[in-house]
Amino acid sequence: MVNQHITQDGFSALEQELARASFGPLAADEAADDASADDFAARTIAGLADIAGNPHIDSWRDKLDALKSRNAIAKPLRPCGRLTRAAGLVLEAVGLKMGVGSECMIELPPGSAIPTAEAEVVGFSGDKLFLMPTTETGGLLPGARVFPLESAPINDPMAGAKRLPVGWEMLGRVVDASGRPLDGLGPLGAKVDAPLSAPVINPLNREPIHKVLDVGVRAINSLLTVGRGQRMGLFAGSGVGKSVLLGTMARYTSAEVIVIGLIGERGREVKEFIEQILGEDGLARSVVVAAPADVSPVLRMQAAAYTTSLAEYFRDQGKHVLMLMDSLTRYAMAQREIALAIGEPPATKGYPPSVFAKLPALVERTGNGPEGGGSITAFYTVLTEGDDQQDPIADSARAILDGHIVLNRSLAEAGHYPAIDIEQSISRVMTSIIDDKHLERVRLFKQMLSRYQRNKDLINVGAYSSGRDQLLDRAIAMYPRMESFLQQGFREEAPFEPSIAMLNQLFE
Ligand SMILES: Nc1ncnc2c1ncn2[C@@H]1O[C@H](COP(=O)(O)OP(=O)(O)OP(=O)(O)O)[C@@H](O)[C@H]1O
Ligand SMILES: [Mg+2]
Repeated sequence: MVNQHITQDGFSALEQELARASFGPLAADEAADDASADDFAARTIAGLADIAGNPHIDSWRDKLDALKSRNAIAKPLRPCGRLTRAAGLVLEAVGLKMGVGSECMIELPPGSAIPTAEAEVVGFSGDKLFLMPTTETGGLLPGARVFPLESAPINDPMAGAKRLPVGWEMLGRVVDASGRPLDGLGPLGAKVDAPLSAPVINPLNREPIHKVLDVGVRAINSLLTVGRGQRMGLFAGSGVGKSVLLGTMARYTSAEVIVIGLIGERGREVKEFIEQILGEDGLARSVVVAAPADVSPVLRMQAAAYTTSLAEYFRDQGKHVLMLMDSLTRYAMAQREIALAIGEPPATKGYPPSVFAKLPALVERTGNGPEGGGSITAFYTVLTEGDDQQDPIADSARAILDGHIVLNRSLAEAGHYPAIDIEQSISRVMTSIIDDKHLERVRLFKQMLSRYQRNKDLINVGAYSSGRDQLLDRAIAMYPRMESFLQQGFREEAPFEPSIAMLNQLFE
């Protein structure tokens, strides 16, 4: 603390203190009140001239001069705290006053692979801070020093919040949760950065959804039409074709920019997704943020927020963005890991209440911006455990999204790709963005499909004889064509207009 006083300002304060002691009425605070600062200076100089030659003053002056030169080379005082507990995923530190979300560095013993570990403040209790490491922490010692990395100025909290690179330079790039390139193509060269959180958009300022977004998938374009600014869920168990479907959309959509967040999936899948599913053309107009399952839950959550920040940047530039997040469930799981580690009680299926608050906060950032601006159409994949649609995350996601596409395992097993279960899927804005003729055809298609599915067993064993149900008769006749209409190879493009034309053809 001593060092802190002996700054340049502190030095003059000491000098003034000295003047006050020597001249009584010429006190510094009186001078501050005095209208004439010049007058004070003149009197001080006169006073100092009077006492020139006073050995005490001279010796003080020498001492202060020596301190002044030492101060010039002294390192600024760095506040630090100490690590007091490391149990499970969370670390505890005392001696620091830092806001939730700020970052710090923890010293590791000499000889460690990395000199310091990084961590983020995820909560506090009294004067104890809860930290969640974002890097490797092997070898951490009790009492290790904890240094804050940066602190937000009080008057502008957003200025100190973590900011990550955004910008057009990032198209075609693959980055990690902290915006560091993973593709080995050198620095990003991004000139703009953005905070990870965004102010809430006034719901009355959002432009309503009234235009169709072509996603390049026939079954979706025609029967589950998606609007610009709509937020959809892609619900499926594992291995049913979520990633392939997202990749198909990324390649063939009419959106101008695609932002892809790969959150908490297997590391191997990241490369596979980029090289085989997305391909070179898809990547050229995309930004990929990857935070696989083995990174800290803090970084997995950050990657989801960063993906959204990137999409927001392009939307604010007036672009129509398609954001694909794989997966929302892993985001919820990361928040569950953090919340349980800092002692939040579990509620539904082990998910603490904060998870259900974080989901809408993330999802509400996407959608349309103000009138006349860009849009973010988002697809979030939601894992349904063992194809259980009642999973709490699936339930919560269904409530906050503007529609859901359910992938069906038995369709996938039968080689019917994309394995979209038309009956269970719904696009909630569809009725207001398509014309009446289109809507009528969709209704008829769904009726016939559902009638056929319900009677499938009877038809297959030959227990149904035609003539009893007109609609079913028609469905039986059309079923093979309906089935092939719904299927699409993953290298096959199906733009909006041709998809509708094909739907019309079915009924002519
Ligand atoms: N349109 C398609 N055409 C042909 N095969 C497909 C198609 N979609 C998916 N598949 C097959 O299904 C497999 C699994 O697909 P995908 O990796 O997309 O599943 P997933 O739901 O993302 O799985 P996970 O939950 O493991 O991430 C693919 O490897 C591929 O063999
Ligand atoms: Mg996948």
